Amino acid sequence: MIKRRRVAVIGAGFMGSMHAGIFANMVGSELAAIVDPNRVLAEAVAAKAPGCKIYDSHQALLSTERDLDLVSICTPDNLHLAPAAAVAEAGISIFVEKPISSKVEDAKAIIAACEAANVKLGVGYLLRFDPRYAAAKELMISGRIGEPIHIYARRNSARTEGPKRYGGKLPLALHVTVHDVDMVLWMLEGQHPVSIYAQQTDRLLGSSGTQDSIAAIVRFSGGTVVNFESAWSLPSGARHMIDARMEVIGTDGSFEVQCGDSGLYFASNEGSREIDTQHWPLLNGRIDGDLARQLGGLIDWLDGAAMPIATGQEALRSLELTLAMMQSAESGEIVRLG
Ligand SMILES: NC(=O)c1ccc[n+]([C@@H]2O[C@H](COP(=O)([O-])OP(=O)(O)OC[C@H]3O[C@@H](n4cnc5c(N)ncnc54)[C@H](O)[C@@H]3O)[C@@H](O)[C@H]2O)c1
Repeated sequence: MIKRRRVAVIGAGFMGSMHAGIFANMVGSELAAIVDPNRVLAEAVAAKAPGCKIYDSHQALLSTERDLDLVSICTPDNLHLAPAAAVAEAGISIFVEKPISSKVEDAKAIIAACEAANVKLGVGYLLRFDPRYAAAKELMISGRIGEPIHIYARRNSARTEGPKRYGGKLPLALHVTVHDVDMVLWMLEGQHPVSIYAQQTDRLLGSSGTQDSIAAIVRFSGGTVVNFESAWSLPSGARHMIDARMEVIGTDGSFEVQCGDSGLYFASNEGSREIDTQHWPLLNGRIDGDLARQLGGLIDWLDGAAMPIATGQEALRSLELTLAMMQSAESGEIVRLG
């Protein structure tokens, strides 16, 4: 008989509602509770998961629910610490959406709280569960490209997506580039960043409190040089929803990850659009793709399976490098790292 892990999700917004739907539908988990001060959002989630309780705060959740196996934290980046620390103190394992936090001190406090309580901490870097990046990682481990010389990592999307949802609340780098930063650090195991130089533009989106694009060059301790490029300023009619690529050139070979094309287009007399088949597509009435693979892997990881779930320390490293990138872009100076 399969043990169903009892999971609560904190935050019933864009990501939390998808986490909740996935946990409610997986064989290995059940959605015990959803937490959000916004009752309407919480009720919409609970309506699709029989037996799911609703709470308006993590305090109310933790004072009532006794036998949770996991809490997934999907609040805004700057509001991860308070629920994470309280959940850890209650002795429950945590999954927190990326980035672990918007501040290094909060990230360290989350890690410390989990270590003190001896609970597991995973962070939501879902590209680790994208078959293309995951297979690329296997190529890296196999040594078939030799020593990595140069990496190019791009993630460009339309102004009608991210900026509409997060403009004014989130810097581009912390929302978008951080995914590639995690990927690069994951690929370059054993190397650490030593210097970074970045530039950004805000001609188009500056008035809504965010950036159009950011470009950064990072030198790593083993000599590998990485170019990061992210933009959320593509026009709404851009061919791809997310034009993402990674190219790794090594001493003996190279590989390319090409994610631009989802492979599915819808066209009508009003226009055309690409449909997600990669991150969280709805298939057979259920959320599938990288996010579902990641959360499925998370349940196995709770049961002790080896899974590439990003750890707290890994997420701290990607946060530190992304913040250094933002510092360089703002100051126009090279930032040197330890
Ligand atoms: N993995 C990815 O690709 C990806 C994509 C988008 C967002 N994210 C991350 O997911 C997290 C959530 O982002 P989102 O887009 O879902 O944001 P959102 O604004 O859509 O949802 C956040 C929800 O948290 C609720 N909330 C705020 N404070 C709370 C509290 N103290 N307790 C309980 N609920 C509270 C809000 O009412 C809101 O419903 C962020 O960390 C974000 O960076 C990850």
